[in-house]
Amino acid sequence: SRRSAVGLVAAAGVGGLVGAAATISLRDGSSAAPNTNTTGTAVPLSDLGTRIVPFHGTRQAGIVTPTRQQAHAVLAAFDLVEGASRDALRSLLRGWTAAAARLTAGLPLGADDNTAALGLGAASLTVTVGFGPSLFGKAGLAGTDRPAGLAPLPAFPGDELDPARSDGDLGVIIAADDPTVAYHAVRALQGIAKGTATLRWQATGFARARGAAGDEGATLRNLMGQVDGTNNPKSTDPDFERRIFVGEDGPDWLRGGSYVVIRRIRMLLDDWDALAVPAQEKVIGRRKDTGAPLHGGTEVTPVDLSARGTDGKLAVAPDAHIRLAAAANNAGAAMLRRGFSYADGLRPDRAPDAGLLFLAWQADPGRGFVPVQQRLANGDALSRFIRHEASALFAVPPGAVEGRYLGQELVE
Ligand code: HEM
Repeated sequence: SRRSAVGLVAAAGVGGLVGAAATISLRDGSSAAPNTNTTGTAVPLSDLGTRIVPFHGTRQAGIVTPTRQQAHAVLAAFDLVEGASRDALRSLLRGWTAAAARLTAGLPLGADDNTAALGLGAASLTVTVGFGPSLFGKAGLAGTDRPAGLAPLPAFPGDELDPARSDGDLGVIIAADDPTVAYHAVRALQGIAKGTATLRWQATGFARARGAAGDEGATLRNLMGQVDGTNNPKSTDPDFERRIFVGEDGPDWLRGGSYVVIRRIRMLLDDWDALAVPAQEKVIGRRKDTGAPLHGGTEVTPVDLSARGTDGKLAVAPDAHIRLAAAANNAGAAMLRRGFSYADGLRPDRAPDAGLLFLAWQADPGRGFVPVQQRLANGDALSRFIRHEASALFAVPPGAVEGRYLGQELVE
């Protein structure tokens, strides 16, 4: 087709290849772009594999860059082995940093690499590392060194948490536009951790394929079909930094870092899909097709929680998800939600084991996730259709500048 021919030429340009073939004719009379050029050299159909998100920097790259999350994610938590020393933790972090720097640049790990991702490039891989509450008190870290923000999350009404898939001493958030690249990275970290830390849990998620939507910046949809992420804080907001990243009030080693809350939230999709669309929209407070608030406008129209319909009723229902979650109703609580969908086949009851790997970033969980979830757990209309099945909290230190390793300020 014309479109793919254009795509091919563009991709060939990115790779520096010239003389790419035009379209090839197929038997049914249509045409397609071949992924070889005229000299027979393979040419990628897109530049997806070649994209690199720089690893080194003052921030860990997975938090706000790339602007939209990659298509695939692997989340994992590790526990230190009994009696692991501070030295062992140091060399684990040194090893993870070195491996992450190579893999995110699209480079193999050398002799230790199992080659699963060979030839796939970096595919915008990001590897983000955090420390769980349970790390403090181990490997020579005092329990009292644990920052206030890293207090274990309280239990919330309705929680059905599975401890085996929750918490962990070390957390890793891996994302890439290629699922093999993402999985290869977690295997690499697991190999490096051998003898010092073992995998506690692992979860695989996905977002939208890169290049699939006409508008790459369009807000994602979750598996309930809702436009999800609209009212997130924007990096251009004047208070964005203060709300998402740890500032002067945090410990030195965490300044410029953030806290991430991870919740595995299963969706009761059979119940949800049986609900008529107007009823679904009432649960959230936004239209399903456009994501606009129910009082009208477009997706980006500011929400007016006091707006009333012609029937005199509140346009956004008293128990609507966006009313209860709104910053205005939670003392200004803010978090950056960047979750991934998951679909892990069927449960024993034949219901889909699918939902949202909810990820929320904030400068302080006590002024972000915790008060909001407290409120949602006590009356959110959405609660009927979701189950919180796993939970984790990690303090995510700042990025590593060249020559330093992640978490160095904490463990050196
Ligand atoms: C908004 C879905 C869980 C916090 C929204 C929106 C949707 C949505 C569709 C409206 C669009 C937007 O602004 O992003 C879901 C689903 C969930 C879930 C399907 C579970 C499977 C949570 C949880 C929290 C949360 C656990 C935090 C504790 C928020 C916040 C907003 C929001 C803060 C923005 C509210 C506003 O200011 O307008 N959610 N959500 N959500 N959600 Fe959720």
